[in-house]
Amino acid sequence: MPTRAATSADLDAIMALEHASFPTDAWSPAMMREELVSPHGWYVVVEEAGRLVGYAGLRAARGARDADIQTIAIAETARGRGRGRALLAALLDEAVRRDVHEVFLEVRADNPVAQTLYASEGFAEVGRRPRYYQPDDVDALVMQLDLRGWAHRRAETRGGEPDGGSGRSAALSAAPTPEPVDGADTPAPPATGKGWC
Ligand SMILES: CC(C)(COP(=O)(O)OP(=O)(O)OC[C@H]1O[C@@H](n2cnc3c(N)ncnc32)[C@H](O)[C@@H]1OP(=O)(O)O)[C@@H](O)C(=O)NCCC(=O)NCCS
Repeated sequence: MPTRAATSADLDAIMALEHASFPTDAWSPAMMREELVSPHGWYVVVEEAGRLVGYAGLRAARGARDADIQTIAIAETARGRGRGRALLAALLDEAVRRDVHEVFLEVRADNPVAQTLYASEGFAEVGRRPRYYQPDDVDALVMQLDLRGWAHRRAETRGGEPDGGSGRSAALSAAPTPEPVDGADTPAPPATGKGWC
């Protein structure tokens, strides 16, 4: 399923989907614009008949071995037809190109659909952030993926090499990558907004 890199020209369409998908804790347009233009990020979109029906974002700083899935959403009318998995795979392919080893994400404890998608790609639960999502007061599950294992499985499925191979890092400026969480020692939830994913 074709995906393409997002640009800041996609901001309005992404924000419309953001509000529809995350009604209580959508990011602001300013936050989303920052994500789209950040050299540490990689956002992709999927379209249907010229209309943007999904977006997803990765954060992977230069030289960092860890990356984070920032967000992913598909328009309600376009769900259940492989678009979410295609966007997630596009992010993971980019993480492989950036020589990332481990990918992390947070997902709402009350979102079994997204959890099932992540688990089916090999993410495993490694921690929990109590009351991470505000104002809904919902815990976040922290999930982790061994990216090299994922790339090998993908290459086997495709009968070839994973996209981009390994050892190539994108030309990104240095920036700290969020530390992996260990469920017992969790930081306070963000004051507002949905945080990651
Ligand atoms: C999560 C989301 C992105 C999935 O996108 P999608 O295009 O519907 O998902 P796909 O069709 O690619 O399905 C991928 C997998 O997700 C799981 N899944 C999808 N729909 C599901 C459902 N209704 N029930 C259970 N699992 C489901 C399945 O494992 C599926 O794989 P399968 O088709 O091989 O069984 C989409 O539901 C969405 O945008 N939800 C609202 C926003 C959100 O919750 N984002 C995640 C934030 S962490």
